[in-house]
Amino acid sequence: MSDVRLRLEGVSAGYGRTTVLRDVDLEVHTGSVVALLGSNGAGKTTLLSVASGLLRPSAGRVLIGETEVTRAAPNARARAGVCLIPEGRGIFRGMTVRENLLLQLPPWEKDKSFDVALEAFPALENRLGELAGRLSGGQQQMLALSRAYLAKPSLVMLDEVSMGLAPVVVEQIFESLHILASNGTALLVVEQYVERALQMSDHVYLLNRGQVVFSGRPDELDENEVMRGYLGHELDSPDVAATT
Ligand SMILES: Nc1ncnc2c1ncn2[C@@H]1O[C@H](COP(=O)(O)OP(=O)(O)OP(=O)(O)O)[C@@H](O)[C@H]1O
Ligand SMILES: [Mg+2]
Repeated sequence: MSDVRLRLEGVSAGYGRTTVLRDVDLEVHTGSVVALLGSNGAGKTTLLSVASGLLRPSAGRVLIGETEVTRAAPNARARAGVCLIPEGRGIFRGMTVRENLLLQLPPWEKDKSFDVALEAFPALENRLGELAGRLSGGQQQMLALSRAYLAKPSLVMLDEVSMGLAPVVVEQIFESLHILASNGTALLVVEQYVERALQMSDHVYLLNRGQVVFSGRPDELDENEVMRGYLGHELDSPDVAATT
């Protein structure tokens, strides 16, 4: 198996005539945790869209392992082991928890059970018959995250999964990410809780206006300067944790 799970080479991408990402190089190594930081509008979600196949780059290449997937559709990338947990949960609120879990089992795993997700998120176990829309925000996010367990991906990309959740739930979410990482799943993490994201990361990329302005180990980053310069706030201060 290749040491590099995901590689973006010279990727530019945008929407219509607007260029967002400019000449981005990024690598996620097998089993590693990579934090992707940057201010609002820097292009983090756009980068995850390119990596997951939701958005075609205008230039550059995307590789999963050794295989170029620049033009491959999202489901082909899912089959290659890439899982995106998108911003805003991505669950079906009008369906039950059980139905949501069944839907999240990829077609090639349809005969498997979803027990592994219930082990990770026991809070879902006695809510299986409940409509997903009636779960708490934290439980909805756990349901969304259960895909990262069910599809057995080798890379999970997470777009602000702790957004808007109470601190105790944020703890549980991070705990589940630690479990995924310790099982050898590579993670590409976009997080508002910058300090926590850095603590669990092997490597960090900093995006500013669609360009990589820092790539290195978290301990090489002058955190406060970064916070002031690019994020506009201090580490894990109350306004960072505040919900919008
Ligand atoms: N679907 C879209 N159509 C047009 N422009 C978009 C679209 N999505 C994002 N953009 C623009 O692309 C730029 C980057 O957006 P993106 O969502 O990637 O940023 P982000 O780093 O994820 O920000 P945030 O921290 O707020 O989530 C922004 O200027 C945004 O307005
Ligand atoms: Mg975003």
